[in-house]
Amino acid sequence: MAARITCAPKRYLLQFAHEHLDFRLQEVKSVISMLGCGALLKEKEVDNGSPFLEIELPSEKEAKAVMQRTVLGKRLYELWAEGTTVSEVVSKLQKLPDGFIKPYTDENSSFRIVVETFNKKISSADKVRRIEQLLTESTCILKGKINLSVPDNSFHLLEFYKFDSITSPNEPQKVYFGRWVSDGQRDWIREYHLQNRHFIANTSMDACLSMVMANLAQVKENDFVIDPFVGSGSLLVSSAHFGAYVIGTDIDYLLLHAKARPSRAKQKTRSEDESVQSNLRQYGLENKYIDVLVADASLQKMWRDGWKFDAIITDPPYGIRESASKIVRRDLQEEAEDYGAAHYPQKTNYQLGDIFKDLLNFAAKFLCIGGRLVYWLPIYRPDYCESNIPQHPCLEVRFNCEQPLSTTISRRLITMVKVCEHQEVSEPQGASIEVDHYEMLTFRQKYFKATSAAVNNSLQVKVQKT
Ligand SMILES: C[S@@+](CC[C@H](N)C(=O)[O-])C[C@H]1O[C@@H](n2cnc3c(N)ncnc32)[C@H](O)[C@@H]1O
Repeated sequence: MAARITCAPKRYLLQFAHEHLDFRLQEVKSVISMLGCGALLKEKEVDNGSPFLEIELPSEKEAKAVMQRTVLGKRLYELWAEGTTVSEVVSKLQKLPDGFIKPYTDENSSFRIVVETFNKKISSADKVRRIEQLLTESTCILKGKINLSVPDNSFHLLEFYKFDSITSPNEPQKVYFGRWVSDGQRDWIREYHLQNRHFIANTSMDACLSMVMANLAQVKENDFVIDPFVGSGSLLVSSAHFGAYVIGTDIDYLLLHAKARPSRAKQKTRSEDESVQSNLRQYGLENKYIDVLVADASLQKMWRDGWKFDAIITDPPYGIRESASKIVRRDLQEEAEDYGAAHYPQKTNYQLGDIFKDLLNFAAKFLCIGGRLVYWLPIYRPDYCESNIPQHPCLEVRFNCEQPLSTTISRRLITMVKVCEHQEVSEPQGASIEVDHYEMLTFRQKYFKATSAAVNNSLQVKVQKT
């Protein structure tokens, strides 16, 4: 939770979009701490499955700044009253001080009232009834003219019902009334949609999660951001969108040189200009592109000592839809029989545990203090425990959010902050994983075991039905 605010705070209500539920609170917390605006969050309600988060913020300026960055926050209202019934809300509205409501409710300003319910459908007639109740019982408050299309002020009555899969709840758990202040940045999801992206790969990160990752990494104007497993560069696009200079590496020469097999179903060959750079150009962000190098992320000597990044944001290979390989150390490579023949470095399997340890060691060395590492960790859910999260003495876990992919498979988005330099640690040691999730079976083996079990189960169900 962000620091407590000292001046008289204002109460706001943030309405989240209904997706990536585990990431919503963390995204907004990250944005608030990046903006440095003291805020107080009432997190309990969100934990109970509500799409609403009450926030105290110093002023509308900060409230709007938060909404300028969030993709999972849908709308923000100035919170005027809340209760468990519409009548309770109306009676609270009537007690609001004149100075608070006057700027938005005098005869000269138009308004509309929007009614929305969550986890329960109500008829249009019921919505109208609620609006009439508000208008008749709070006549002394809303004095202006009604304008449904372009009002000066939009007021919202929001009802949240506790989700119940068996019976439809009759009474709302919470009713809110607020003045609309700002929308979040849901439009970016359409603007940066992969469907219209010039260059995509098999595992390109979707626009929404790419933006969320950049927010968790607190990417800012003129930051220097790297993705060591860059692929088609989706994470560089979102970082550049927030003003960062971006660079990436990937071991796949063919992919970076537009020679890999196309990822779009109907496309036969890749066009020559399919590149990370052309993706940035597509969005007018080419001036933020530094370079993308064909390089092995396990080999870190190519980076000069003292080189620092503000953020590392990446989606390492899980070995399912793209291979996880690394270059074999030169001294272990077989000698070419034909002296003088072209040398192609040999590759070997890159174990997931090693990928993450290398990544954390890279972050510990090349992030600036306070810089963030944001990365995905694939999880076999039945085996998961906290000690599967890779650790490093210079990095602190800030967030750990789960995106379920099936009942047994998920991936966790881990956000770490660099808190000290390597030399400052009393007994310098590298990254470690207390319990390596993939020591016995690789993620690939666990993944296919889980997938074939699911197929067998569904076949059994089908056979039983027939
Ligand atoms: C999950 S994909 C990244 C997708 C990317 N975020 C995007 O939006 O397109 C992982 C990438 O890691 C690359 N890779 C695998 N082993 C690597 C290594 N040792 N060093 C660098 N990149 C590697 C793969 O070629 C693949 O492009």
